[in-house]
Amino acid sequence: MKPIRWGILACGTIAHAFAEASVLVPDCVVGAVGSRTLSKAEAFAAQYGICRAYGSYEELAADPNIDAIYVASPHSEHRTHTLLALRAGKHVLCEKAFAVNAGQAREMIAEAKKQGLFLMEAMWTRFLPVYGDIKRLLETDAIGEIRMVRANFSIRQPADPAHRLYNPALAGGALLDVGIYPLTLAAMVFGSRPKAIHTAASMTPQGVDEQSVITLDYGDGRLASLTSGLSLSSPNDGFILGSDGYIQIPRFWAADSYRLCQADSNLAQTHSFSVSSFDDYGDSKENPQCRLVERYQNRYGYTFEIKEANRCIRQGLLQSPQMPWSESVAMLELTDAIRAKWGLRYPFE
Ligand SMILES: NC(=O)c1ccc[n+]([C@@H]2O[C@H](COP(=O)([O-])OP(=O)(O)OC[C@H]3O[C@@H](n4cnc5c(N)ncnc54)[C@H](OP(=O)(O)O)[C@@H]3O)[C@@H](O)[C@H]2O)c1
Repeated sequence: MKPIRWGILACGTIAHAFAEASVLVPDCVVGAVGSRTLSKAEAFAAQYGICRAYGSYEELAADPNIDAIYVASPHSEHRTHTLLALRAGKHVLCEKAFAVNAGQAREMIAEAKKQGLFLMEAMWTRFLPVYGDIKRLLETDAIGEIRMVRANFSIRQPADPAHRLYNPALAGGALLDVGIYPLTLAAMVFGSRPKAIHTAASMTPQGVDEQSVITLDYGDGRLASLTSGLSLSSPNDGFILGSDGYIQIPRFWAADSYRLCQADSNLAQTHSFSVSSFDDYGDSKENPQCRLVERYQNRYGYTFEIKEANRCIRQGLLQSPQMPWSESVAMLELTDAIRAKWGLRYPFE
């Protein structure tokens, strides 16, 4: 099978994860990388054996030997870089949060439709196999009536005003970066249209959200209690709580296991998912590809979104049924509404 040829736009933290994960996906090759700085692109390309390095995103987008572009820039730039890639005829996988607001997301989607190209938000959590299992459990009433979702995702990022997470001009703040994950977990369980939103946030001196609590009310007694922070130490588990049991998901945004606790049973069952085999690469540890696979297997979680993007591109789909455009827009409508309650607008909005 001819591989899908990817270009990586921007050489920051997550771009490395994508490059490493791409090695684990058999029908995928990273053919080029673009940075605002040529030497940075060249160093990145050398690190991963990528053939072509460009000192501008425009040159990357114009590369005729690339099928798709992975947009790995800060939130504030997703709209511009996605439009650039689509207008150059490339399919796009764009990092989360898909855009800064729902209006930008609609514009990106309209362009993908116009160009007849695939576009998807790289919300990798949605593609993790754990959630296929959990969905089936919830459908079989394993924990009774689902009443509540509880989730936190906080990091401890030193308060450097120049860092993108603290910079309002780059759409910094916890919500779009880490807060989007608890919102995603709630959406996967209850849907993305709560009936009411209650929230409070404390702001950094730069004016972005440092930490927040969000309560979403879905009606009929179904609630989600979600927190996130930039400078907060906290267990980052997710919980789905039911009338007859609960599911605990350690590191729920990157989950490779879950724990099912049923109220009437003394047994708590833990289910784990791991890199099952290197079958796609053959057994031989002499195979250099195998060695790379072993080195990068902690990036395994990112392979599922890449596989889904490749599948959709091959089938000529414009959007993924697993991460449809409507869902990306709905999540940003939610973050727009939350930010409105806090009075947080980014300077370019
Ligand atoms: N899925 C995940 O697990 C995950 C994890 C972390 C981040 N993310 C997402 O990935 C995106 C990037 O995050 P990151 O942590 O990789 O950020 P980062 O380390 O700051 O890298 C962002 C890169 O964007 C490029 N860029 C373009 N315009 C820029 C500007 N005006 N200011 C600063 N950088 C600019 C730069 O690359 P060049 O200098 O090479 O042009 C920079 O290195 C965000 O959307 C974030 O939410 C996802």
